[in-house]
Amino acid sequence: MAKIVILTGAGISAESGIRTFRASDGLWEEHRIEDVATPEGFEHDPDLVHRFYNARRAAAMAATPNPAHEALAELEADPGHDLLVVTQNVDDLHERAGSQNVLHMHGSLFGALCHACEHRWPAPEVMAPSDPCPSCGRAATRPDIVWFGEMPYRMEEIWHSLRAADLFVSIGTSGNVYPAAGFVADAMHAGVPTLELNLEPSAGSRMFDEARQGPASVLVPEWVRERLGG
Ligand code: APR
Repeated sequence: MAKIVILTGAGISAESGIRTFRASDGLWEEHRIEDVATPEGFEHDPDLVHRFYNARRAAAMAATPNPAHEALAELEADPGHDLLVVTQNVDDLHERAGSQNVLHMHGSLFGALCHACEHRWPAPEVMAPSDPCPSCGRAATRPDIVWFGEMPYRMEEIWHSLRAADLFVSIGTSGNVYPAAGFVADAMHAGVPTLELNLEPSAGSRMFDEARQGPASVLVPEWVRERLGG
């Protein structure tokens, strides 16, 4: 049974119509990342931050999985493969394509988190700063998204799986944001072979044993066909 850890980033959802983060102008949907993706930004203007993620949630709900998400679900269903998808994405396209073993290290648009008592619950379609926490009742609702300056989720588990893997594959991520950007080095030090599938060489491309360039909707199904011997 081949154990494979897959890291995915915004590039895998790009062809589903969800915009990636790092446009050359440094803006993200016309906002500065610091304004909408940091605890300080949220403290400064919670209305803006909620509006921003409400729009992202609506966009994710309107999108559908593409052949790259579908191919990973197909590989997971193969009895010869033990797959863990670690995604930096906050959409649910892996799950909707049929992947079951998915870990959202940067949180999810479909979760709500109380920043007063840390209670978590399913996000409503539209969130507002005045929404009370169902547990403590305080108006401290935020999206359950890991912002810059916060610790990504389930890191010990991820590192453990990475060290025990037979292969690490990175798909559609620019390699700019740690700790995910460091997974290729972690895998290398553990003697785990590495493969990158990305539209262009990422920041860490040269560290991978093999790097292929092209759209995820083509490269991922191609690679899965190779794995399944088709
Ligand atoms: N197929 C494959 N790769 C693609 C495609 C595509 N169709 N379109 C774009 N890409 C590649 C880009 O070339 C780029 O290298 O996907 C990468 C996307 O990079 P980013 O926008 O930086 O996204 P990501 O790496 O996921 O960002 C990491 O940054 O803002 C934070 O928390 C946020 O999870 C996010 C993290």
